[in-house]
Amino acid sequence: MTNHVPVLLEECLTLLNPQNDRAYLDCTFGGGGHSAAILEKAATATVDALDQDPMAAERAQTLATRYPGRLRFHAENFRNLDRVPGRFDGVLMDIGVSSHQLDAPERGFSFRFDAPNDMRMDTRRGRTAAEFLEQANRQELEKAVRDYGEEPRWFRIVNAIESARGSGRLSRTASFAHLVAEAAPPPPGPRGPHPATKTFQGVRIAINDELGALSEALPKAFAKLKQGGVLAVISFHSLEDRLVKRYMNGVSGRPLDREDNRTQDERVKLAELLTRKAVQPSAEEQSRNPRSRSARLRAVRRIAP
Ligand SMILES: C[S@@+](CC[C@H](N)C(=O)[O-])C[C@H]1O[C@@H](n2cnc3c(N)ncnc32)[C@H](O)[C@@H]1O
Repeated sequence: MTNHVPVLLEECLTLLNPQNDRAYLDCTFGGGGHSAAILEKAATATVDALDQDPMAAERAQTLATRYPGRLRFHAENFRNLDRVPGRFDGVLMDIGVSSHQLDAPERGFSFRFDAPNDMRMDTRRGRTAAEFLEQANRQELEKAVRDYGEEPRWFRIVNAIESARGSGRLSRTASFAHLVAEAAPPPPGPRGPHPATKTFQGVRIAINDELGALSEALPKAFAKLKQGGVLAVISFHSLEDRLVKRYMNGVSGRPLDREDNRTQDERVKLAELLTRKAVQPSAEEQSRNPRSRSARLRAVRRIAP
């Protein structure tokens, strides 16, 4: 059975510093690796955990049995984290997909398996990837493939998607991956990643509205912190990391970006920035767990009441 190896675990624990009788919020339970480590580290700490994937609930049940009365699971999108009662000493977001999702053929996240082209993290609602590809307008497709997928050959791929509508080729992972590879064949030379890798990523980000959920969740997560509490966010995509960096700069009273020309007096400092530069997995972690390669961790400590 698949196991999700938690990314930047020691670094997260150092930042969150779990203590007895404290309360933590894990917005992305996944396989429960970070939640378990918090529960293990501090024998009377509690964790409220969210995941929009209903399959995560079963794994949470196993962990809740191991740590009786200390883990509460909420099958929620983290954009609704304000529905969880209470305030927390630490909030963690480890966004993106879990190995459980990537390695389950029927979920359609991977072109390694032929399956219905689904890619929804929340299988209870929303459009599948196949439905999105059949129905989205040109602008939405470009956003997915060019912006979220960062695919340089987006133009040919978007054209190919539009031409394939109604043919059934968009409905399965294998035929869709084949269509992308045909539209943008791999360059000659040593074999690199599959030519559909970026497009799959972009479509996944689009159909799960991953950037929208993150933008909504960041201020809600910060509002959930007690004074002295820490918000730690791991992202796997440069657009997500940019959102996190900007948000954390904002609450720390720092310029949001190079264009921000407000004076120091005009900026409000509610938090202390704990990571000047994003923390990246060590070379050892990257070789042990190649899926950690693009991870970036940033954190702030709330100083306002
Ligand atoms: C990278 S995994 C988390 C792994 C976890 N930290 C561990 O150690 O096992 C990301 C998880 O976040 C969930 N997720 C992603 N976006 C979400 C959202 N907007 N709301 C709730 N859960 C989300 C996914 O379903 C997935 O299970």
